[in-house]
Amino acid sequence: MGIMVFATALSYQNSALKDDRPTDLFGAIAQLKHELNAVILAHYYQDPDIQDIADYIGDSLGLSQQAAATDADVIVFAGVHFMAETAKILNPNKLVLLPDLAAGCSLADSCPPDAFAHFRAQYPDHLVVSYINCTAEIKAQSDIICTSSNAVKIVQQIPTDQPIIFAPDRNLGRYVMQQSGRELVLWNGSCIVHETFSERRIVELKVHHPNAQVIAHPECEPPVLRHADYIGSTTALLSYVQQSDRQSFIVATEPGIIHQMQKAAPQKTFIPAPSTSNCNCNECPHMRLNTLEKLYLCMKNRTPEITVPDDIRVRALRPIQRMLEMSAA
Ligand code: 13P
Ligand code: SF4
Repeated sequence: MGIMVFATALSYQNSALKDDRPTDLFGAIAQLKHELNAVILAHYYQDPDIQDIADYIGDSLGLSQQAAATDADVIVFAGVHFMAETAKILNPNKLVLLPDLAAGCSLADSCPPDAFAHFRAQYPDHLVVSYINCTAEIKAQSDIICTSSNAVKIVQQIPTDQPIIFAPDRNLGRYVMQQSGRELVLWNGSCIVHETFSERRIVELKVHHPNAQVIAHPECEPPVLRHADYIGSTTALLSYVQQSDRQSFIVATEPGIIHQMQKAAPQKTFIPAPSTSNCNCNECPHMRLNTLEKLYLCMKNRTPEITVPDDIRVRALRPIQRMLEMSAA
């Protein structure tokens, strides 16, 4: 009985959604954007349709910088929860919308606030540098935030006698250690998407495409990074393929970025790095929860809205501002 009521409610919701859906979603979103004085910020891992309608597409750093600078009244964040939360922390008086509130991040989930507080307490003299892929509660426990594009630069600005905890991504942490020559105490977190790439299958691809270069995000596991000709954030990978004189690339990050790579260099070939099993596990299941239709609905209904409790917001703001200052340095 209960199941039938649920099924009826669901089919009612679906038919209401269908009836409500405008035939021209792109036009309807553009109209709502105008009415709300909204800006649409999208990460490179979003579906191509969403990237095509966004005002700005970027990596986590670029998106934070845009969120900090915007004079729009409403920020529509086509990305995952921690990114929209960062925009809200920077803009407490603006309405920040996320098309699907369930769009989380496995890496952020791998660092629960209580466990991290306990970990941090074991290293009282350490500075905490946290990757932006973490919750507001973790940011509130951090001294400086970083992204994949500025992590090395930020750690290099910290005096060498200052011990550092780096959280939550152990792979980015190891990469920063290698690049900066600094010892870091690492939180043992990782991303389900970037740990899925298969070293064996990448090597097989290299054999079939001997002229292709492997380009990888630093969240990948060390065996994959060892095969990389170039390692960088999504924005850095995009610039690299544009500038390189190579014609083909094996791309070891979420394949959403390939949409912009194809637009920027249509004559070049981009091969998504495969995962260990024959699944689409290289697509971020959280990012892909957002759809063009949900983007339209969140603007139409002005919900789901991101909120951050004020005490956490104030403590989380300081390390984000330090990142923005140190990135400009
Ligand atoms: P970027 O810093 O390249 O945006 O990385 C974000 C991310 O979620 C990688 O998984
Ligand atoms: Fe999080 Fe990984 Fe998805 Fe990036 S790709 S949002 S780190 S789960």
